[in-house]
Amino acid sequence: MFSNRVPPGLAPNRIATELANSPPRFDLTVSNPTRCGIPYPSGLLDSLADPAGLAYRPEPRGLVAARKAVAAEYRRYAAAVEPDRVVLTASTSEAYAFLFKLLANPGEGVLVPSPSYPLFEHLARAEGIEAIPYHLNPELDWRPDLHQLAATPSGVRAVIVVHPNNPTGSLVQSDDAAAVADLAAARGWAIVADEVFLDYLLTDRPGTGRTFAGTEQALTFTLGGLSKSVGLPQLKLAWVVASGPGDLVENALERLEFIADTFLSVATPVQLALPFILRQGAAVRAAILERCRCNLAALRQATSSLPAVAVMEPDGGWSAVLRLPAVLAEEELVLELLQKDGVAVHPGYFFDFPMDGVLVVSLLPESAVFAEGVRRLLARVVTHLPR
Ligand SMILES: Cc1ncc(COP(=O)(O)O)c(C=O)c1O
Repeated sequence: MFSNRVPPGLAPNRIATELANSPPRFDLTVSNPTRCGIPYPSGLLDSLADPAGLAYRPEPRGLVAARKAVAAEYRRYAAAVEPDRVVLTASTSEAYAFLFKLLANPGEGVLVPSPSYPLFEHLARAEGIEAIPYHLNPELDWRPDLHQLAATPSGVRAVIVVHPNNPTGSLVQSDDAAAVADLAAARGWAIVADEVFLDYLLTDRPGTGRTFAGTEQALTFTLGGLSKSVGLPQLKLAWVVASGPGDLVENALERLEFIADTFLSVATPVQLALPFILRQGAAVRAAILERCRCNLAALRQATSSLPAVAVMEPDGGWSAVLRLPAVLAEEELVLELLQKDGVAVHPGYFFDFPMDGVLVVSLLPESAVFAEGVRRLLARVVTHLPR
């Protein structure tokens, strides 16, 4: 009766069942910035009521003023982006769906980093294509395995890079970005560069805020959106910036426009409001960054007296990865934390970490909630350490 684009087993796992039965007091899995006490300017959404929104003017790539506002955002990363190379979508997830339709036939594949965001597998499957993992090396600051990439068999249409990656927080270093672009150009792959977390750098190392939006060697689609850059996932607006060899880009944009025209999914009021929201949203971005930096500092402090637990330092993003001695299977520890301590964390296997003993914590929670959640987590780990 049904297609296999939806996975067969949809029953919730043990952790999801436990979470639904007893919501945790200390939720260190939150990824929704609107539920974490972040202050939003009170008039931030006023421009959604612009009466110009009463007229429907379908524009498959997005209204010009909105695309200009997106292009201008890239000045923050010192990149020159032309508005006619911007296409709006309702979310980054939708941008992936459009790009997979554009690039891959059913049965073909896209390369996805591992560990990374678990939704890639579902997004690919929903388009009838395969997500093929390539490894990020934990011993080398999560740098991509370029040998594995170079040995990729045919039938692959694109390589996804997540910059910074979720949840490892690792940026793609510039020599790796250049190597991936050379490989993509040689193999005829497009690059899909997910930069939804690029505004949230947690490192002060110089030269880290580089965008893929200026990549010219290979056809490149750089993704961003309001859900992370302004902390407003409910507004449903994201974007794709195309770059690369001129003819290829024009051809790709024409086809992407055709796909976008089939759905016309971005609402007019949010497009009209976009220039205002991007300007005013800088304050939200600053508040989220401050929250993540403070919580990361608190995490470092809390773990400093417990050598058994190491923070794998993120370059950016909204999460931190903790490495523990594999004293207890991840799932058992996560369930125990939920049941005995009221603390929710993600197990590493959820993101396909290549080793056991990994927990992922969100850096978004209110600082008091975060600190107490971490305190309880560490106390629980201590009970399992050999004496
Ligand atoms: C790496 C990454 N890309 C994309 C998304 C989805 O963003 P959007 O809300 O724009 O679909 C997420 C959401 O957490 C993410 O972590």
